[in-house]
Amino acid sequence: MTIRITWKRALATVLGLALLGMGVAWSGVINLAASSGHWAITDWFLHWTMRNSVRTHAAFTAPKDPADATGLVSAAGHFANSCAICHGAPGQKPAPVMQAATPPAPDLSVNAREWTDKQLFWILQHGVKYTGMPAWAVQDRPDEVRRMVAFVRRLPGMSAAQYRALVAEASPAIDPDNCTGCHGKDGRGRGAPDIPILGGQSPEYLLAALKGYANGTRSSAVMQQVAMRMDPVQMEAAARRFAAMPGLGAKPAGDPAAAQIVERGLPDKQLPACVSCHTPGKPYPVLAGQRASYIAARLRHWQGDKNIVDARKSHATMPVIARRIPKDMIDPIARYLAGDTGARR
Ligand code: HEC
Ligand code: HEC
Ligand code: HEC
Repeated sequence: MTIRITWKRALATVLGLALLGMGVAWSGVINLAASSGHWAITDWFLHWTMRNSVRTHAAFTAPKDPADATGLVSAAGHFANSCAICHGAPGQKPAPVMQAATPPAPDLSVNAREWTDKQLFWILQHGVKYTGMPAWAVQDRPDEVRRMVAFVRRLPGMSAAQYRALVAEASPAIDPDNCTGCHGKDGRGRGAPDIPILGGQSPEYLLAALKGYANGTRSSAVMQQVAMRMDPVQMEAAARRFAAMPGLGAKPAGDPAAAQIVERGLPDKQLPACVSCHTPGKPYPVLAGQRASYIAARLRHWQGDKNIVDARKSHATMPVIARRIPKDMIDPIARYLAGDTGARR
């Protein structure tokens, strides 16, 4: 007997298979226990699918410069706070409970070699579905992701001592909230270009910044992970402790065109003088003596796409002002504000 294939029969078969699949899923016999692991063939297939997906998506969407090695301190600190529990770190094993997942998080000192920088960027920015690998906690800070790419790239070959030197935790007695690993015992940010100087800042502003990170109105995965664990009393104490350190307050100096904008603004561009707000005694952050690279990074963020990056949703002021600054004046302004203190890079 021959069976003729008709549209009706084909449709009936497809429907039948779909129903069968539903039936199997409904019966509950599929074993989703993480304890049972994957069969080797399932494991191979899932990884093959993941590699293909990452390769294709990274090729089209990752930025041209996916790695930034100038900020390894904050990247290492964030790795210790957010990644080491699953992946482990040089000289430190992952938490056993995390390794009991299916799939368990791989040892990045081995696996990082398998990916290009662009692919690492894509994985870190977006995470990997069905595995427990999370996306970057905020989606509008590609600069933070780029610093992490550079850090993960260095994990193969990084010794425990090198890792500890980067993370540099102080003893809980002098640093109860573990801020100094990134900000330094003197609040000067260990010379890292992406970490602002906190000493000499107004305590009210530091407190507002911590609250902003914790509730998401200020966008930074690195600081969010720190701030969300603090209660209001700890925040206030930390803000007061850092504000009381010496640091900011150098006299701005340098380029006359930058001085013009900072002191008097650009009336034809409706750009107000920076000092009309950023002056000691007023409820605005102190900029004089701040690290030039940090000032420039904030201004560039605010200049970016209208709907992105650190718009600090509670204050629409700075994004509007920043977009009126001529692009080629950002670095001169930042250096001028930093003044002659060694914070000018
Ligand atoms: C909850 C546990 C968990 C956390 C937290 C986590 N990861 Fe992962 N990560 C995973 C798992 C599981 C995979 C494996 C995905 C796969 O290959 O199927 C993975 C994969 C990766 C990969 C790709 C490596 C590979 O070959 O699969 C990189 C790179 C990575 N993680 C970096 C990080 C970084 C950096 C952080 C912190 C910002 C982080 N992860 C946080 C669980 C985690
Ligand atoms: C893992 C590194 C890291 C740790 C740990 C860390 N910070 Fe930060 N902090 C940063 C970075 C990077 C920035 C800049 C964030 C940005 O781009 O908005 C920052 C910014 C800040 C700001 C905003 C300053 C400004 O001028 O706007 C405050 C306030 C702050 N941190 C306080 C703290 C306190 C208090 C702690 C400890 C409880 C702490 N930080 C721990 C890396 C860290
Ligand atoms: C109308 C008042 C006002 C003027 C004028 C102004 N700013 Fe601001 N600026 C603010 C406020 C408010 C914030 C704090 C935003 C927040 O809540 O985080 C800020 C924050 C900043 C920051 C971030 C500081 C930090 O520690 O993260 C930079 C950089 C900055 N301003 C640069 C400038 C420059 C450069 C000018 C001049 C071109 C300028 N501002 C003019 C109000 C002003």
